Amino acid sequence: MASCSVTLAGGKLAVGRRMPGRCHRGTAVRVSAAAPEARKRPEYIPNRIDDPNYVRIFDTTLRDGEQSPGATLTSKEKLEIAKKLSQLGVDIIEAGFPIASPDDFEAVRAIAMDVGNAVDADGYVPVICGLSRTRDKDLETAWEAVRHAKLPRVHTFIATSEIHMKYKLRMTPDQVIENAVNAVKHLRSMGCNDIEFSPEDAGRSDPAFLYEILGEVIKAGATTLNIPDTTGWTLPHEFQSLIAKIKANTPGADNVIISTHCQNDLGLSTANSLAGAMGGARQIECTINGIGERAGNASLEEVVMAIALRGKEQMGGLWTGIRPVHISAASKMVSDYSGMIVQPHKAIVGANAFAHESGIHQDGMLKNRDTYEIMSPETIGLSRADEAGIVLGKHSGRNALNTRLTQLGFELPEDQLNDVFRRFKNLADRKKNITDEDVLALVNDEVHQPTVVWVLEDLQVVCGSMGMPTATVRMRGPDGISRISSGIGSGPVDAAYKAVDALVRVQAELVDYSVNSVTEGIEALANTRVVIRPAGKMAGEGYVDSYKGGKTQRSFSGSGADEDIVVSSARAYVSALNKMISYISAKSAAAVAATSSVDGSSQEAVAA
Ligand code: KIV
Repeated sequence: MASCSVTLAGGKLAVGRRMPGRCHRGTAVRVSAAAPEARKRPEYIPNRIDDPNYVRIFDTTLRDGEQSPGATLTSKEKLEIAKKLSQLGVDIIEAGFPIASPDDFEAVRAIAMDVGNAVDADGYVPVICGLSRTRDKDLETAWEAVRHAKLPRVHTFIATSEIHMKYKLRMTPDQVIENAVNAVKHLRSMGCNDIEFSPEDAGRSDPAFLYEILGEVIKAGATTLNIPDTTGWTLPHEFQSLIAKIKANTPGADNVIISTHCQNDLGLSTANSLAGAMGGARQIECTINGIGERAGNASLEEVVMAIALRGKEQMGGLWTGIRPVHISAASKMVSDYSGMIVQPHKAIVGANAFAHESGIHQDGMLKNRDTYEIMSPETIGLSRADEAGIVLGKHSGRNALNTRLTQLGFELPEDQLNDVFRRFKNLADRKKNITDEDVLALVNDEVHQPTVVWVLEDLQVVCGSMGMPTATVRMRGPDGISRISSGIGSGPVDAAYKAVDALVRVQAELVDYSVNSVTEGIEALANTRVVIRPAGKMAGEGYVDSYKGGKTQRSFSGSGADEDIVVSSARAYVSALNKMISYISAKSAAAVAATSSVDGSSQEAVAA
């Protein structure tokens, strides 16, 4: 039997001598047998890390990630994701862009107050960070949103590339420096002493200008200098050298932390982030599943696992404080809430990441798991399906389901477990083998849903080759009353959506619709994802301030699972409508609260 030992950061897990087993995706897996090596992360000091090999992980799923089209998250979802990020052990959570809207402000503040104060037994608590442009109002709003956290940080930025300064900002380089310095000083004057500064589009900026502006913001009091490759332009060797040159040529750079923020336009964001760390960066910005603007951001799980597996041998001993065993559940939660489906061949968290299809590979795996796997699925929290001999089917009870859910990383409260169990029993009546994918689809459909406003109780559709597909729905509204309505459409799904629209009465435009089968076979669950945005009279409702300048329109995703494709489509549509309704009503409630607040300039700033 093969033996190897890889110590993972945070001291939570070491993969040692490997033993065969079955992973829930049906593949053989290894089991960790070595004792975990305790490794305590260095104490958090904004501008210094006492261990030269420690790399801070700055998660921006809730800010950069949420900017992916359709990825809009409600405040409740953001809070739950922040809790998961804290379980994962990220050093910094960028919780949002507080000036974007009163609702964004409230979401960041709630995370700062809750997750930002939940200190664990080891003394760990994540830094809670808010993004801000260099304007005073933005800075004050961001500071107000985060300041109740134990470790608050504000991240301010201004563009430094010639193209951005000339065409976007219409400022001279001197004006840009002045803005940056004033922003940092303003934050200091409010009592914020953990300040991150980003020269936006640094990847295409003149390095000499970067040394100058960065030197000035250090003098003004910045503690972290983040170097964004905003357009994903640089190649790994180029980015590594940029970071090394910034460290060597920026006055005062030894007294601050240098950070990377790599977009994925050329598919190089993970490689560039690792190259940046090799060049001397000690903070990496990344997102769960790599979601983010355009082609996305560096993927947390890729960066973290690359450092965990190769940091010692190939990166001079770099390590992070991440507890990788929570990666799989975090990935699932972010995918469910954001509606951003993870591609099957995505590294680490894709459905195929631990699947071995070809005969030669299967043969190799059966002989020795090291032949084709560089890490065990359990490392990231995927557990073996039959470890306790549990096979889920129609005779399984609540306890068996609960045990399996816990193994998959979900601890559901009683009421949610009951809901999932009810759906599980219905499915088990029709489907002989219930796989983990089925269970996860039910969790998404029942648990990872936005606040329930409307509930789809029943749906009946008449369709066929004679035209006039007709759907009738019964839905329970926010007042608790069930009502019935019908619709005629171009097909059964369209008819169902028209019937739903007749009751819910909000105007929405369907932007995207897709259906996938969860597993193989005729009795498989269908998983539907839709993306909608406010339309007609409501069209103005989804707009918020964009950190890039101007306004951006939010769109809302929803997902649903059922054996019946039309029911699954209707459930997904209702879920997206619920999300849109909750978002819009939270936004107006927060705006009312902000305008009616009597005390505080910061609240006025939010409403402005
Ligand atoms: O991509 C970018 O430049 C950013 C900055 C605000 C860090 O997101």
